[in-house]
Amino acid sequence: MMHRPDPFMDAAKTGATLDALIDSGKVKAIGVSNFSSSDWRLLQKHMSHKVQVNQVEISLLKSQVFTDGTLSDLQIDDIQPMAWSPLAGGELFGNSAAATRLRPIFKSLCAQYNCSADHIAIAWLLAHPASIIPVMGTNNLERINALSMANQIELDRETWYELYSAAQGCEVP
Ligand SMILES: NC(=O)c1ccc[n+]([C@@H]2O[C@H](COP(=O)([O-])OP(=O)(O)OC[C@H]3O[C@@H](n4cnc5c(N)ncnc54)[C@H](OP(=O)(O)O)[C@@H]3O)[C@@H](O)[C@H]2O)c1
Repeated sequence: MMHRPDPFMDAAKTGATLDALIDSGKVKAIGVSNFSSSDWRLLQKHMSHKVQVNQVEISLLKSQVFTDGTLSDLQIDDIQPMAWSPLAGGELFGNSAAATRLRPIFKSLCAQYNCSADHIAIAWLLAHPASIIPVMGTNNLERINALSMANQIELDRETWYELYSAAQGCEVP
């Protein structure tokens, strides 16, 4: 996985090198991270193997990819999105204005689903049709074990928007 776009990248050389890595069996698949659609399309133009994933920042607190075209372009190009910092690095449970607005909604949903707020935040990502893969950062074994709970929570559209609007701090028109 290429961690970030390189402004000095020679796309033809890089694409050929990545193809060679797959052809030689050294790697099974190629992914990118923090690439815009122009970045990954430029690279893909010079590769015979398909770019499989793009790891971008996605959480309730960082949700630009839903509206800046990134998630739409990933779906158009059949590239699976991965979400880094899916809990905003823990800030989701801090004292920012957005986290404070989200807290009572988390509390009510946690009571409904008998789970914790991190499960709701991950279920919010999993609910999206782009098939987002959250990349969890916790090393806490209890949290990791319990996170599978998020798979069992199916948030409906109304609840998805309730969380989204609270995070944004305004009604979605
Ligand atoms: N591609 C990139 O540019 C890029 C950039 C940044 C990160 N990443 C990748 O993304 C991974 C995840 O990023 P991240 O670490 O920011 O992930 P994250 O899952 O958003 O945040 C992890 C933090 O949230 C805390 N946390 C988890 N559950 C909590 C809860 N219920 N209450 C309070 N705090 C909670 C964790 O604390 P505990 O440890 O105490 O559980 C940890 O400090 C990284 O490991 C890295 O591999 C990629």
